[in-house]
Amino acid sequence: MIFASFRSIGAYYPENILSNFDLEKMVETNDEWIVKRTGIKERRIANEDEDTSDLGYKASLKAIERANIDIKDIDAVICATLSPDYLAMPSTAVIIADKLGISNVMAFDISAACSGFVYLLNIAKSMIESGAKKNILIIGAEKISKIMDYKDRSTCIIFGDGAGASIISATTDKSKSILDVSSFASGGHDELLNTPLDTQKMHMEGGEIFKLAVRSLSNDAKAILERNNKTKEDLDLFIPHQANKRIIDKVGKYIGLKPEQVALSIAKYGNTSAASIPMAVNDMYESEKLKNGDLILLNAFGGGLTWGSGLLYFNG
Ligand code: COA
Repeated sequence: MIFASFRSIGAYYPENILSNFDLEKMVETNDEWIVKRTGIKERRIANEDEDTSDLGYKASLKAIERANIDIKDIDAVICATLSPDYLAMPSTAVIIADKLGISNVMAFDISAACSGFVYLLNIAKSMIESGAKKNILIIGAEKISKIMDYKDRSTCIIFGDGAGASIISATTDKSKSILDVSSFASGGHDELLNTPLDTQKMHMEGGEIFKLAVRSLSNDAKAILERNNKTKEDLDLFIPHQANKRIIDKVGKYIGLKPEQVALSIAKYGNTSAASIPMAVNDMYESEKLKNGDLILLNAFGGGLTWGSGLLYFNG
């Protein structure tokens, strides 16, 4: 039987730092309020001449190097983003593939907002288990700063730029595989989180999103553990979407996790939407908190609404 394995992780963090103190000079806010309400201290902002595909390309280089895979063995490139290089086409995945020197393979983007990386896992797992593909490069990449209204203090303090990528490969070893991925969407909430075509700036109603996020994330995390006969004690790390530390704390408490089981990188990067989970996985990997063979639970929520979870053995 063929399983899908999470074979490597890579990320790219743009060099420019936008701190809460910088934001104090741009909107009426202060460091204390932002830290207390969100857990965020700073976020990264891409350069003018860096677009989403550049961030995704740099993250992909790391993921490819760490997987020790020949670029010509990659047979699909899929990118999740809500801040693509172009409005509709060409896709960011096609541009990243070209920068990597990959051609004549399937490449496309998906739109699932902050749940994008979990959706990608689901797609890659299905393609590999069906035998259609063997090595898929999945990328979450965002230059959210270009769709941000830096006069909207309740939204601009949350988001940042960055990218994360992973190679998902076929394996016959279930103990190295992605066990399960859930992905859901429920419409009718357009007004809460959207990017209108006229302004092309993100609009968010944070309070309502907060409540819906806690409920969906908590229920889905519990359900995926139960469905796979795993307990909270089995988990080495819970790596949720880094949207707001208060959301993460509430979900962690609901599942009954110890603080050391919960991955937090939000203070340094803010919410980077589809890039947030792979950036957090990379952060755990580089700080040696995530090791080969660890059982991890990914848990995401985003505009749409979309949400989902991934339960997997890290094989990087
Ligand atoms: N600095 C200082 N004050 C601010 C502020 C800021 N950056 N932004 C809003 N405020 C003010 C509001 O104007 C309001 O003032 P008022 O009581 O005088 O009207 C007060 O703070 C409370 O605002 P509220 O929106 O209720 O705050 P909150 O506790 O809900 O926090 C968010 C706002 C955005 C931080 C929070 O709702 C959130 O994180 N939501 C989830 C967002 C999210 O996860 N989005 C991504 C989903 S993938």
